[in-house]
Amino acid sequence: MSLSQPHGGKLIDRWEPSYDFSNIEQSIELDDTALSDLELIGVGAYSPLSGFLNEQDYHSVLTDMRLLTGEPWSIPITLPTTEHNAQDIHIGQFVKLEKDNIVYGVIQVADIYQPDKEKEAELVYQTVDHEHPGVKKLFERDAIYIGGEITLIKRSEKGIFSDYLYDPAETRQKFRELGWNTVVGFQTRNPVHRAHEYIQKTALEIVDGLFLQPLVGQTKQDDIPADVRLESYQVLLDQYYSKDHVFLGVFSAAMRYAGPREAVFHAMVRKNFGCTHFIVGRDHAGVGNYYGTYDAQKIFSRFSKEELGITLLFFEHSFFCNKCGSMATSKTCPHDASFHEILSGTKVREKLRNGESLPPTFSRPEVVDILISGLREKVG
Ligand code: ADX
Repeated sequence: MSLSQPHGGKLIDRWEPSYDFSNIEQSIELDDTALSDLELIGVGAYSPLSGFLNEQDYHSVLTDMRLLTGEPWSIPITLPTTEHNAQDIHIGQFVKLEKDNIVYGVIQVADIYQPDKEKEAELVYQTVDHEHPGVKKLFERDAIYIGGEITLIKRSEKGIFSDYLYDPAETRQKFRELGWNTVVGFQTRNPVHRAHEYIQKTALEIVDGLFLQPLVGQTKQDDIPADVRLESYQVLLDQYYSKDHVFLGVFSAAMRYAGPREAVFHAMVRKNFGCTHFIVGRDHAGVGNYYGTYDAQKIFSRFSKEELGITLLFFEHSFFCNKCGSMATSKTCPHDASFHEILSGTKVREKLRNGESLPPTFSRPEVVDILISGLREKVG
């Protein structure tokens, strides 16, 4: 076995730092999501995408979860701009992509269209409820979408995350250097706890390496900040993981909270980073009660093994069972739920914000210390 082929067969490379944009006047102001998407397209993390979706691909992704070329693609990667700005943009034109007066890229405009945001919400998020953080964001974004191939000219500042930022070509190289033929990818946006560690290490038993890739792009307000989450991973890796079999890097995309659709997206992207396997546990990329516990696993049956090109490792809801004295799932534990240490994400965040500890059977004390002090610093 060898590392996964990129989605679509070839790693896209649209990064050209010396690109001369001095003759381009028209510009589009990027929001945080579009800036991270631009960068991820540019470095090939979103292969086979080489730009923001045009209208036909947009509708194809919404209705069929596929690009027009047939590859599975479940999340529309779009570039919104204001109606006012769109009036001055023409098909064929090159337009600068800016944020706060810094030019990060250029798009060759292939399409200018009005999205159907109701349809997008209904199909991608399975709800039009504006309380859903992904839907809220969708409707806050500008009204007109611009499609076309991009060139990435400048990388955004990553601050403390820069030491952990690896492009797909770099992770592939790293995995090869480590001698790994099989690598399981792990997506996360929450503080690491025992259940995460359990499923990561269980998966690692059948592959050569574990690629931990916490998402550090935009998340909703009440999620635990990414720098605090990263620090807890550093401590955990230092003390409880084998250095020869784990690699930590960050994923700079924005979180969509699109549950099942986002699980497919996360898997395709990790395939581009070289992973041969990908973990999907309970309520992957979910929020509130919008999705069923295992919907993000069931959705993969819509695609064939060959077209996915990455092996999915599905895990049941895991917990510490006080009677078993170990981590377990309903597959491996016969005991009553009263023996199980289960806390919802919301409850965990609430406890941590109040400076309350978490049971060691739920989360390692070293991690809890970092989470509590990290959050205290943010507030203080
Ligand atoms: S996510 O939004 O990035 O999916 P999170 O960081 O909570 O959130 O989860 C990371 C991965 O671990 C996901 O695949 C999720 O399904 C899985 N997971 C989280 N908690 C559990 C658990 N208790 N049991 C099984 N899988 C879990």
